[in-house]
Amino acid sequence: MAEKREEENKDDGKDSHFPVMTKEVLEVLNVHPGQWYVDATLGQGGHARAILEAGGSVIAIDRDPKAIEKARLELLPIFGERLRLTCMNHAGMGEFLPSMRVDISGVVLDSGWSMAQASENGAGLSFDAEGPLDMRMDPTLERTAMDILEQQSAEELAAIFSNFGEEPLALPISRALVQSRSRGRLPRTPKELAAFVSGVYYRKGYRRSRRHPATRVFMALRIEVNGEIDSLVRGVSGVRSILGSGARLAVLTFHSREDREIKHLFREWVREGWGRLLQSKPVLPGKAEIEHNPRSRSAKLRVYIAN
Ligand SMILES: C[S@@+](CC[C@H](N)C(=O)[O-])C[C@H]1O[C@@H](n2cnc3c(N)ncnc32)[C@H](O)[C@@H]1O
Repeated sequence: MAEKREEENKDDGKDSHFPVMTKEVLEVLNVHPGQWYVDATLGQGGHARAILEAGGSVIAIDRDPKAIEKARLELLPIFGERLRLTCMNHAGMGEFLPSMRVDISGVVLDSGWSMAQASENGAGLSFDAEGPLDMRMDPTLERTAMDILEQQSAEELAAIFSNFGEEPLALPISRALVQSRSRGRLPRTPKELAAFVSGVYYRKGYRRSRRHPATRVFMALRIEVNGEIDSLVRGVSGVRSILGSGARLAVLTFHSREDREIKHLFREWVREGWGRLLQSKPVLPGKAEIEHNPRSRSAKLRVYIAN
């Protein structure tokens, strides 16, 4: 959905909730009335609603209980038995879906966070938030962003910032954090962390930039706290074996690391002879959508069709 992108900038349409590439998702899933589809990232329900309105039935999954509750109140009364809601990590959907006892014609997975989550008080994703450094998408997760800052070594923090945020100053930022920690002065709120990272950039001679200097560090911590890459890979890998002939798997990513994982996974499946790609290059959002919803600009949609 529009509700995230690789380089989040909280100034863009903060309160807007636009599902990303809905028309393209419907097209690539080839939605037919009466058939069952899985929405593995229900969020604000944009894609699920579009599939339901096109006549499809939907098994909707989200690890955030608030997303499920919203759909229970807003979508269930309209679509009734054509919608089944499940609060779970989609990492386990390969094992879970057979218990639904329906043939699945398509799966859509729209990775990341919804704007509702990003702007929610307490999630700790906004640079000016004063609350705890939490960043958990699922309240049952044990480790928060603060725990990571308190427990990891400088090298471990640098690996997180670099692998998940492609942060160029990963090591200087991590070293500065660990030094502050030893003096009992670790940043404790998103606002303090954002100021801390800006300070490192400033001391290194960086001045003004288009996006906030802490953007990559925040994204990396969020991905680490929620195990986002691991869940994505496990979810997508697990679902392959339950797709019958012709069923489609559409994955929308907003981050180069996620896209790489999906590209390699799909290529491997094609090499193994399990299916084919709808097209070799990812489907990208059109100009009009990017203009209307700047957050869609880093979206990439890859589609696999089972043999
Ligand atoms: C970008 S939003 C999806 C938006 C949705 N497609 C729409 O049209 O409104 C991503 C959603 O996926 C959920 N999510 C992210 N990772 C998940 C996971 N591993 N398992 C289940 N849900 C997940 C988040 O809680 C969030 O609600």
